[in-house]
Amino acid sequence: KKKISIAIDGPSAAGKSTIAKMVAKKENFIYIDTGAMYRSVAFYCIKNHIDLNDEQAVEQAISNIQIRLTADNKVYLNDEDVSLQIRTDEVSLGASCVSKYQAVRTFLVDEQRKVAETGNVILDGRDIGTVVLPHADLKIYQIASVETRAKRRYLENKERGLEADLETIKKEIEQRDYQDMHRAISPLKKADDAIELDTSNMTLEEVVDQVLTLINKTR
Ligand code: C5P
Repeated sequence: KKKISIAIDGPSAAGKSTIAKMVAKKENFIYIDTGAMYRSVAFYCIKNHIDLNDEQAVEQAISNIQIRLTADNKVYLNDEDVSLQIRTDEVSLGASCVSKYQAVRTFLVDEQRKVAETGNVILDGRDIGTVVLPHADLKIYQIASVETRAKRRYLENKERGLEADLETIKKEIEQRDYQDMHRAISPLKKADDAIELDTSNMTLEEVVDQVLTLINKTR
């Protein structure tokens, strides 16, 4: 039986990881949260007082970074559980900053491809369908209005016990989208063969069902 790979890309807080996790659970796929990897690099730099704008310094830091994603969706940075710490606004913007560096992308894309070879996988991020897995069996480009996304992230943060302010979140999302779409290397864009899914007026269950239907068509 052939291995199936699914790519979900789209702007920040579009609900990609929520959907990917639910689909992975239902289909028993390996889920790879690639954003968590960029976040971990940013978090490492912030923690070690490395200037995120100093490309050379960030590049040097990479050799000291080991990231591990577990089956229960925990994120380990050099064997420390950073799952919650990488979800702050500071780390979100930091990730968007370090993700523009070639050395960071090469390091993480290699890791992502290695894991992707191990079985049926679903990856979410910004460049999965365009760069990481250009031959993915199914590519989804998941979008939602900025209002919807900000509201969802607001509720998510509150649930996680993180401080949440709707306007701040909206600004942060807009800034990241702009940066991610306008960077020189692997900018966020819909792959030509990706299916666009606007989830603004859809429930989680509807989105999951839609993706499951699309997966079944690839078999
Ligand atoms: O998906 P998430 O919001 O956790 O990603 C954080 C940041 O990491 C993004 O804003 C983007 O700059 C970067 N990223 C990326 N490529 C990916 C995943 C995330 O550049 N595949």
